[in-house]
Amino acid sequence: MISRYTYGSCIETGAVPEKPEIEAGALPFFVVDEEQMTLTYRMAEHDRVYGLGENLRGINKRGWIYESKCTDDPNHMEEKRSLYAAHNFFVVDGSETFGVFVDYPGIVSFDIGYTKMEELKIQASDWNLDVYVITGMDVKDIVKQFRKMIGRSYIPPLWAFGYGQSRWGYRSEDDVREVVKAYRDLQIPLDSVYLDIDYMERYKDFTLNQETFPDFPDFVEEMKKENIHLVPIIDAGVKEEKGYPVYEEGIEKGYFCKKEDGTPFVAAVWPGRALFPDMLNTEARNWFGDQYRFLLDQGIEGFWNDMNEPSIFYTEDSLKAVMEKIDTYKGKNLDLDSFSEFQGLVGGLSNNPEDYKAFYHDMDGVRVRHDRVHNLFGYNMTKAAGEAFERLEPDKRILMFSRSSYIGMHRYGGIWQGDNKSWWSHLLLNIKMMPSLNMCGFLYTGADLGGFGADTTEELLMRWLEFGIFTPLMRNHSAAGTREQEVYRFGNTAGFRHVIGLRYRLIPYLYSEYMKAALRGEMMFRPLAFDYPDDKYAAQVEDQLLLGNELMLAPVYEQNARGRYVYLPETMKMVRFKEDGTMETEIRPAGHQYIDVELTDVVFFMRPDTLIPLAKPAQCTQDIDFEHLELLKFVQNEMASYEYYHDDGYSKDYENPEHLSLLFSTTEE
Ligand code: NOJ
Repeated sequence: MISRYTYGSCIETGAVPEKPEIEAGALPFFVVDEEQMTLTYRMAEHDRVYGLGENLRGINKRGWIYESKCTDDPNHMEEKRSLYAAHNFFVVDGSETFGVFVDYPGIVSFDIGYTKMEELKIQASDWNLDVYVITGMDVKDIVKQFRKMIGRSYIPPLWAFGYGQSRWGYRSEDDVREVVKAYRDLQIPLDSVYLDIDYMERYKDFTLNQETFPDFPDFVEEMKKENIHLVPIIDAGVKEEKGYPVYEEGIEKGYFCKKEDGTPFVAAVWPGRALFPDMLNTEARNWFGDQYRFLLDQGIEGFWNDMNEPSIFYTEDSLKAVMEKIDTYKGKNLDLDSFSEFQGLVGGLSNNPEDYKAFYHDMDGVRVRHDRVHNLFGYNMTKAAGEAFERLEPDKRILMFSRSSYIGMHRYGGIWQGDNKSWWSHLLLNIKMMPSLNMCGFLYTGADLGGFGADTTEELLMRWLEFGIFTPLMRNHSAAGTREQEVYRFGNTAGFRHVIGLRYRLIPYLYSEYMKAALRGEMMFRPLAFDYPDDKYAAQVEDQLLLGNELMLAPVYEQNARGRYVYLPETMKMVRFKEDGTMETEIRPAGHQYIDVELTDVVFFMRPDTLIPLAKPAQCTQDIDFEHLELLKFVQNEMASYEYYHDDGYSKDYENPEHLSLLFSTTEE
């Protein structure tokens, strides 16, 4: 049952396609304080809180304060309150079980036992919000109702389930060729190479650096022959430059965000001075979407949208003010206070809240100051792309994922988890974030494997890939200036070939699970607590996940560990794939136990009476033989079965019942 409560004159965010059944009356569960603009729920001692999508800390969110404030902040540390997204949906599970979605496009905080351990307090910056309260049989049912309300998750092409190599720093066609050659020579599977800002001409969207990428359509074709898809990045800021058609046209038609006085708002990003297309204006959004045609026409079939919080390095006005202020420090004796203030001046230039108050959107006739709808920008940039793909390539699935997002954007693309670091704790964060994102509809997701910032190690990359082979987006990406982390830079080629190779064997299963989760509004990754609600130990587990109805994952995420403790809520079959190509299985009883996991072992657990379809090894998705699948089996009772989804991975008749078949087995032979 979904009820909607509207406060104030809500700005229509467009996140909700189908209006749910509305039940009038007071907001249940919460105490509303109209003066303080807070909604407060008193939690019982053992209540758990799940959700909030892309955010920090645990699967159980209780014990911290979170903020929905899309921010380009590459330091994902425990003390932070928000990342790049605003995913205002959570479920309280305990003495009462209910879900809450706060449809509010500005900054909103969720104090979940931070100020007072027993209090959950929601506070928005103003009172223009819709609150949806969802009740149901259990957490899974509540999530399913929510997912039905917000619409079907984005479905990528099959090749996007292959392994992708990325790095900020592939500067030319030859750099890319070198990467592809290394993978192909070593027979390590690969499906895509990502192009970061280096492919553009001076960081201008929808341009190509003619010196380093001189024959782009031919190059795209050459890569396709190698079964490699090139995936270019698109940034939110459009360079200010006379004669650059995207800039000129945007100015002429008035498509960029404007200052209060009606002149275009200019902020600096990669290309220096840049303008933001008004993604919240239908005409401007359609126009920006149409720009993708420049690359689609050259054979490109996938993109990633970046810097769309939107990220601001500085504005001319704020830079000028800081420069003037710095002048006043000349000749001063800087003490603790004045020196900290001085240091903060330059640091405070980026993503400054004041700058977000300095420009406006024309929401189809309604002028709205940016900060009030800040969290919708990335969503609408990706909507621009998604809608354009439907117009320009109606019969094709185009890969799209974004950095910033809001609930509702999951219909147009996936997300990656932003600028993590090559830290073990960020591998764990990646694991924890998967179910929370799935709750909010984001199924096509994954983190920068190996870590984006800081230097990785061979061991960290190996362990991260051992988890990453299960995430729909499987991409190794790293920042310019960090240690190179293509897997062939390290010694253990056989180990990496084995781990990545296993991904390809699992794709029939992973793709099938993805499609069912998308079409049915279900979660692909779940905390153990969702499936074993009466198991008090399962409720505590924060570092294992259920995948589909078949698997339990227990990744190794600690340096030098060659095993770990796991909790089995029931008897399971442990499956171990070893680097030498062998597979070992062992029935493990329910309970806490220690398992060995050598550095290149891939271990997972099968739940009773399940089957997993496995393909033969392949070098790319194109070569996967979906006709001759092997079955991994755990038949504990009379019969194990698996509902298998398979289509061509490109066309869009997703709902065709012919794509589903039932596999079953009565024996393990
Ligand atoms: C920030 C993105 O998060 C990162 O993935 C990318 O490499 C850099 N921008 C450069 O484009």
